[in-house]
Amino acid sequence: MSAPPLAAVQTNGLTRVYGPLIALSGLNLTVEKGDLFGFIGSNGAGKTTTLRILATFLVPSAGSASVFGHDVVREADTVRHMIGYMPDFFGVYKDMEVTEYLDFFGACYRIPSSRREKTVADVLELVGLTDKRGTLIGALSRGMQQRLGLARVLIHDPKLLLLDEPASGLDPRARIEMMAILQELQRMGKTIIISSHILSELQTLCNRVAIIEKGKLIYAGPVQGVQQQISDTATFWARVGGAQDPALPILRATPHVTSAELTDDRIKVTLASHDTDPSTIPAALIQNGFRLLEFYEDEIGLEKVFLHVTKGETQ
Ligand SMILES: Nc1ncnc2c1ncn2[C@@H]1O[C@H](COP(=O)(O)OP(=O)(O)OP(=O)(O)O)[C@@H](O)[C@H]1O
Ligand SMILES: [Mg+2]
Repeated sequence: MSAPPLAAVQTNGLTRVYGPLIALSGLNLTVEKGDLFGFIGSNGAGKTTTLRILATFLVPSAGSASVFGHDVVREADTVRHMIGYMPDFFGVYKDMEVTEYLDFFGACYRIPSSRREKTVADVLELVGLTDKRGTLIGALSRGMQQRLGLARVLIHDPKLLLLDEPASGLDPRARIEMMAILQELQRMGKTIIISSHILSELQTLCNRVAIIEKGKLIYAGPVQGVQQQISDTATFWARVGGAQDPALPILRATPHVTSAELTDDRIKVTLASHDTDPSTIPAALIQNGFRLLEFYEDEIGLEKVFLHVTKGETQ
């Protein structure tokens, strides 16, 4: 019989204090193998503290954390080889060439020189910097330097990537490029934890998210689940051909519809619960002779969720 699969990351009551300040308070978090996991929180929430503990750079004050079953304190050496940690600020060796820089880190990880050239070429290809291999780092744009930082943490082929705000300071295009690389890495089988304030991007990128505030976990689970957490009712938008007003009484008489209101040129329809079948709405409209132009579920952005769950918490 095979053992149950180990979680990529498991924390139990993870706590970290700095003097009187409780930066992290009893965090219980599970990240499954293959997750692209969004770690969301406002400034000072404890994201960097958590990632630094997982990266073995910081020791917990209480509780424990493991990476693929290995304790980050007792088995720190083993863990270090499994992870690639990209800090929020990393020193840039401006006078080094791109290839030299990666070769240097490859040597730090004891990749034999015979294999290093190929490894460096592979990671450069992955982050789209092959053309820049001979360029001085100081001459790279910010977005390219961030991608180089990502190449650096990939050099020893880690199973888990811990990325602390890898898209910060990037323009929208560079951010999209970075996200595409992360999706590619997920397809390659890597487990990725990415922290960010850029909530709307994580929403489409990540399959699971955790929201922390003041060192405490507020939500952990699938992105879709967040929606249900903040509201029991389900909201849909409909637009019919011609005037919208005549559709309102029809919708209000439809079973399970709790309200139908005109907002701008569309109708906001609320159903009593997420479990209710929404197809009654278009059916009622079509049966009554309306031409249905649009019908879709209201997307609650993570921003909204974040503001909701952290209401009154942020200082
Ligand atoms: N070395 C330190 N000494 C004292 N306090 C610290 C130290 N590092 C972090 N803190 C405090 O711990 C709390 C959590 O900080 P952390 O850096 O983990 O937050 P964060 O979520 O990464 O924030 P940001 O979004 O600003 O990067 C903050 O209140 C911070 O001031
Ligand atoms: Mg931080």
